[in-house]
Amino acid sequence: MPKKRILSGMRPTGKLHIGHYVGALENWIKLQNEYESYHLIADYHVLTTKLETGEIYQDSIDMLIDWLACGLDPVKSPMFRQSQIKEHTELHLLFSMLITVNRLERNPTLKDQMRDLNIEQVIYGHLGYPVLQAADILLYKGNAVPVGEDQVPHVEISREIARKFNNQYGEVFPEPEPLLTNFARLPGLDGGAKMSKSLNNTILLSDNPETVKAKLKKAVTDPNKIRKGDPGNPDICLVFAYHKKFNLNEVPEIDTNCRSGALGCVDCKMRCASKISEVLAPIIEKRKYYEQRLNEITDILNDGEKRAKATAEATMSEVRKKMNLG
Ligand code: TRP
Repeated sequence: MPKKRILSGMRPTGKLHIGHYVGALENWIKLQNEYESYHLIADYHVLTTKLETGEIYQDSIDMLIDWLACGLDPVKSPMFRQSQIKEHTELHLLFSMLITVNRLERNPTLKDQMRDLNIEQVIYGHLGYPVLQAADILLYKGNAVPVGEDQVPHVEISREIARKFNNQYGEVFPEPEPLLTNFARLPGLDGGAKMSKSLNNTILLSDNPETVKAKLKKAVTDPNKIRKGDPGNPDICLVFAYHKKFNLNEVPEIDTNCRSGALGCVDCKMRCASKISEVLAPIIEKRKYYEQRLNEITDILNDGEKRAKATAEATMSEVRKKMNLG
């Protein structure tokens, strides 16, 4: 049996944070051995919310370096920019005929983004975000897509488009399944539900131990625990959420001593900072290696783009044939 195929992707927003690691990368790294993986840098998708493109290349490179530093293997799996494989735009156009405006307007991820980013008038390309994503996945005949909860509606739209195409023109595409990441997402340093660059509440994978300490020092904890001795409630504390991910062994003790007041927030934060930095140390080390060898990075990208292009071309010639556009 050939391995099933995964298409995983992220929008390049620059250096990645520990929320990306916990919510996605850790999972991708595990999955790269079980599946044949393709790793997409979704640079076109960035345009849906940011027209300014001055940093788009550097942001893509920074993200790629973080992927590699975390342990994604470019020999096993091609890594490539969406904008370099023209077949994405071609398939996106054809797919845009297979879904209604109404269906896209019901996409809950779009509604969330409009609310979070204060968007009043949606551009055509933003409405079509999931159509482009369907093209990303199906161009490589992805059977599975590792995603967080918020992306599940997009995978569902990809399934609908695959089904519609297959019914209309003949079987070409699999119906991709979402592979949910099981760890809940990390809260931000401000206590908000989500770590996100635009909210400026992140710990970067490239942050050195001093920076991690300084950032944690400012983190919001239980507002009722003002000084050491005050009893705290770890269930509402973001630092405790980080302990659960990066310091599992000490969680029961921290829980008890936070509640009793024996453990103060400053100590608790410093212990957390050093555990996070332990996990980040090898990543930072590997990042340095690549930063000193940027030509290796361009080689990896060129190679990934060549391999992705070959698969994309094969799918498109099948599509064109089925549609009598050959
Ligand atoms: N929409 C995804 C996100 O914001 C990024 C993405 C673009 C993607 N194309 C993809 C993810 C294809 C998986 C598969 O996280």
